[in-house]
Amino acid sequence: MTLGTTVETSPETSTDWWRSAVVYQLYIRSFADGNGDGVGDIAGIRAHLTHLRDLGVDAVWINPWYPSPMADAGYDVSDYRAIEPVFGTAEEASAMIAEAHALGLRVLLDIVPNHSSDEHAWFRAALGGDTAARERYIFRAGRGDGSQPPNDWQSVFGGGAWTRVVDGAWYLHLFDAGQPDLNWENPEVVAEFEDVLRFWFDRGVDGFRIDVAHGLVKEAGLPDVGDEPEELLDGGHRPGHPFWDRDGVHEIYRGWRAVADSYPEPKVFVAEAWVAGAERLVRYLRPDELHTAFNFPYLNTAWDATSLRTVIDESLETYATVDAPATWVLSNHDVVRHVSRMGRPHGDGGRHTLNTLPPVETLDRGLGTIRARAAAMLMFALPGSAYVYQGDELGLWEVEDLPGEVRQDPTWFRTNQEEIGRDGCRVPIPWSGTEAPFGFSPGGASAAPWLPQPADFAGVTVAAEESDPGSMLALYRAALRLRRELPGLGAGTLTWRDAPDGVLAFDREPGFTCVLNLSGAPVALPEGTRVLLASGPLAGGELPGDTAVWLER
Ligand code: NOJ
Repeated sequence: MTLGTTVETSPETSTDWWRSAVVYQLYIRSFADGNGDGVGDIAGIRAHLTHLRDLGVDAVWINPWYPSPMADAGYDVSDYRAIEPVFGTAEEASAMIAEAHALGLRVLLDIVPNHSSDEHAWFRAALGGDTAARERYIFRAGRGDGSQPPNDWQSVFGGGAWTRVVDGAWYLHLFDAGQPDLNWENPEVVAEFEDVLRFWFDRGVDGFRIDVAHGLVKEAGLPDVGDEPEELLDGGHRPGHPFWDRDGVHEIYRGWRAVADSYPEPKVFVAEAWVAGAERLVRYLRPDELHTAFNFPYLNTAWDATSLRTVIDESLETYATVDAPATWVLSNHDVVRHVSRMGRPHGDGGRHTLNTLPPVETLDRGLGTIRARAAAMLMFALPGSAYVYQGDELGLWEVEDLPGEVRQDPTWFRTNQEEIGRDGCRVPIPWSGTEAPFGFSPGGASAAPWLPQPADFAGVTVAAEESDPGSMLALYRAALRLRRELPGLGAGTLTWRDAPDGVLAFDREPGFTCVLNLSGAPVALPEGTRVLLASGPLAGGELPGDTAVWLER
C-alpha cells in the first residue's frame, strides 16, 4: 500500500472511542531509531508498535513527521503532505498506519497551522517578491524609517516576533524566525489546510493534534500588546489579547469539523490551546468544533489535594456544558517531566519549566517517582480521556544536566542561553541493555543518539522494567488493563466520598473507588472494599501518603 491509496482498515470499536481513549504521545525523534543515524524514525516506530499494544493504550499521537529544516524539531513544516526523509518514506508511513490499526491502535498526527517553515514553497515564493504569496503570511512595513519592527510583539521563544527581509519588509513569527506565521484571513490558507486534513484522512489517519490552536487569528491592525507579563507557554492568556484565543479561530475549526464529519469513520481533533481558564477552553469544544483539548491546568496543578480536587471539579463541570469529555495529561515534550516536577518540595508542582522550578539540588527523584505512580493511577481513574507522554510509563525523569553544546531547543538560543528549554524531556527512550544507546539505535549505529542518555537510564529500560513486577511499566500495564476491563472507568462521572483532609476519594459506578492520600499520614481504607491495584505498598491495610489505590466495592 502507498500513500496514494485510501486505507479502509480501522479498529472496530464504538464511534465514541475518543471520549475515553488513552493516547500515547510518540515523540518520533526520540522513540526508536531504526536506521542507526541517532534519530528516531518510522522504522523504529514499526519495530516497537507492540510496546504500545502491550501497554494497553488506544491511540498514538505522533509529533510532526513532515519535511522540515528542524528549526523547532519539526514544528517548522516545509511540506504538509510528505514525510521527512530522516524519519522515512511515504510508504513506510502508510505501512505504519496499517500496522497500528491491525493492533487496534488509532493514529493521530500533529498539524501545525499557525506557521509553516521558512523553507515552505509558499514562503520562498513570498521572499522572491510574489505578492500573492506574501498575502499568505503576515508581512508589514516597519515603524519609523522602516527599521523598527511593526509592533511590540515578542516571540514565545524569546526576542522579537518580527524579522526583516532583504527588501525591507518585516514578517511575523510568534515562534522562531524559521516559523513564519500564516495569514488565516486569506482564503487560500483556509482551503489549503482543509485539503491537508483530507490528504491524511484519506490515508487512514484517525485525527489530529492541533498545534497552537489558539494562535491562528490576529487582531486587525496588529496593535501593540503593551505592558503585560507574557507567560506564553504558561497559559492564562487574557481574552482580548491581540494574538491569542481570538474569537475568529472558531470559524476555522467549524470548517475543520465539517471535513472530519464528511468521513464515515470518526475523525477527531485534540487542541493545544493555552487559554485563560476552562470557560474559554470549552469554546473550542462546542458540538460543531473540536472534539477534545489538552487540559493544561491539570498538568499545571500542584501536588496537593485541594488544588487537585478544584481542577478536577472545574474541568468536569465546564466540559459538561458542551458535552465534551475531559482530558488529563501529566507531561509532554514541552514541559519538565512530572517525576522531576513532583520530586521538588511539596507545593512546588504547578511550574513546568526548568527556569521556574526550584533548583535541582531540591529534587528527590525517588519521591517524584512515588508520586508519579500515584498521579498516574489518579489520572487513569478520572472520567474522560488521558495522555501518556513516551517514557512516562518508564518513570523517566527530566535530564537536567545536558551540556549546552548538545542543546537544540530554539528557546535556548533565542534567549542567549538563559532559558534552559525543553531538551531534557526529549532524551531518547531506553529500550534495553546497560549502556547508551540502550537499544534506542541498532547495534553498529553510525551515530550516537541525537541527545545523550544518562548512564542511570540502565535501570529504567523497557527490558529491565518488563522483568520487574514493581516497575512503573508494570503499574501502567496493570492500570490500563483494569481500565479496559472495569465498566466504571473511562467516560462517565464521579462522586466524591467524604475523606480526611488531604485525601481524595471518589466512586465510579459500578462498584469502583479510587483513594489518593496526600495528607502525609496513613489513612484507613474504606470499609467493604477489596484492593484491585495500589501505586505502592499498603502498610497494615492502611494507605500511606503519596499513594493511590483502586478498590472494588
Ligand atoms: C507547541 C509545540 O508543542 C511546541 O513543541 C512547539 O515549539 C510550538 N507549539 C511551536 O510550534
